[in-house]
Amino acid sequence: MATTALPHAQWSSRLGFILAATGSAVGLGNIWKFPYMVGQSGGAAFVLVYLACIAFIGVPILVSEWLLGRRGQKNPINTMSALAREHGHHRNWALVGAIGILGAFLILSFYSVIGGWALAYIRDAALGGFSGLDKAAIGAAFDAFLARPGELLVWHSLFMLLTIGVVALGVTGGLERGSKLMMPALGLILIVLVGYGITTGSFGEAVAYLFNPDWSKLDGKVLLAALGHAFFTLSLGMGVMMAYGSYLGEEVNLLRAARTVVILDTTFALCAGLAIFPIVFANGLDPAAGPGLVFVTLPLAFGNISGGLVLGTLFFLLLTFAALTSSISLLEPVVELLEERTPLKRIGATVIAGLTIWALGIAALLSFNLWGDVKFAGLNIFDLLDYITSKFMLPLAGLGAIVFVAWKLEQESVRRELRLGNGGFAIWKLLTRYVAPIAVLFVFWHNL
Ligand code: PHE
Ligand code: NA
Repeated sequence: MATTALPHAQWSSRLGFILAATGSAVGLGNIWKFPYMVGQSGGAAFVLVYLACIAFIGVPILVSEWLLGRRGQKNPINTMSALAREHGHHRNWALVGAIGILGAFLILSFYSVIGGWALAYIRDAALGGFSGLDKAAIGAAFDAFLARPGELLVWHSLFMLLTIGVVALGVTGGLERGSKLMMPALGLILIVLVGYGITTGSFGEAVAYLFNPDWSKLDGKVLLAALGHAFFTLSLGMGVMMAYGSYLGEEVNLLRAARTVVILDTTFALCAGLAIFPIVFANGLDPAAGPGLVFVTLPLAFGNISGGLVLGTLFFLLLTFAALTSSISLLEPVVELLEERTPLKRIGATVIAGLTIWALGIAALLSFNLWGDVKFAGLNIFDLLDYITSKFMLPLAGLGAIVFVAWKLEQESVRRELRLGNGGFAIWKLLTRYVAPIAVLFVFWHNL
């Protein structure tokens, strides 16, 4: 492809890259996780800290990971060790890549369980399962669903099977191109749902809840949750963006690409919040209900809107699709590593990695029922997997990436690569050398 018509090949690779990166970023993190974390953290204070984390920490780390990947041109572990060697630094920098891949492995295990919920809700929506139900019935149906481990297992397995299939067959590109149509469609349904929120009479309350902060709600836990979610939602600290950067050519403007991905990701999250919280307040639901929040609020809207059956079915279908473009990005780096470090070929590597992750996912799904009381430091297995990844591993690996770029690479070459003038680069340096690393360390320290 690179040897034929060059301009076109470049254009298509740039678009492919943006689609893949956006596909990875926009997923369950935006629509399922963001709203329930807002609810558990008490609203706007969390949201504003989260937005600040995205702008001042997320963007510089996203760009840093891409830059490292583009320079290293290998999987995250080899990229980090090659770059470290080239610049005369310790080979332990490879740990940044290693933590990332382990993180991807752990995240996919519970991500797939929630992907399974989305799949199950396609069926429920299509069978008209939401129409005529009130909030009590919808909540009860969800609780009953969680109480049936066998059924959860079927959907988790199906979601993982889809992920494995796409990665094993190497058709991730097709899925990403499909997202060009599916993502806007998902966005459109979200906007319809925001419109429904306006009709509930509780829209103003929801907006205030999301954007008018009560700073007394801000504590170390909320800070860490906001920071961790900024990493999770942008797929940072997992080697995922670094791996995508390794397929990049010089022609791509990293800062501009970051702007596109971050604006899209943030817009999806905020729209999800604006769709869900009016329903929460209009129905007197508990914002802090936890991981089930989306699944007990949106069905209420679908049950009430005309055309809700079609809309609801489409919504959960598109949500599953968005989840898949994220889950394949989590499986890829694990598979790549196995392919490069073991005699396994692509299909074998995918199946083995996928099955291992699937098995760990079973432990995560049992924490919603049979193993609900199995706790470590007060957290069930699902919460534990979420905690150690989002609140520990991702920020740590992201910190490693940004410190390496800011302190271990020749800065003038970074300035040229980012196409920045002196003023812009002064801001970049301030963010990457001081603001972002100190903020991450501060949040860590605050929680110790
Ligand atoms: N960013 C994805 C989401 O918000 C989740 C994800 C995390 C994907 C890490 C890849 C890597 O849904
Ligand atoms: Na996201």
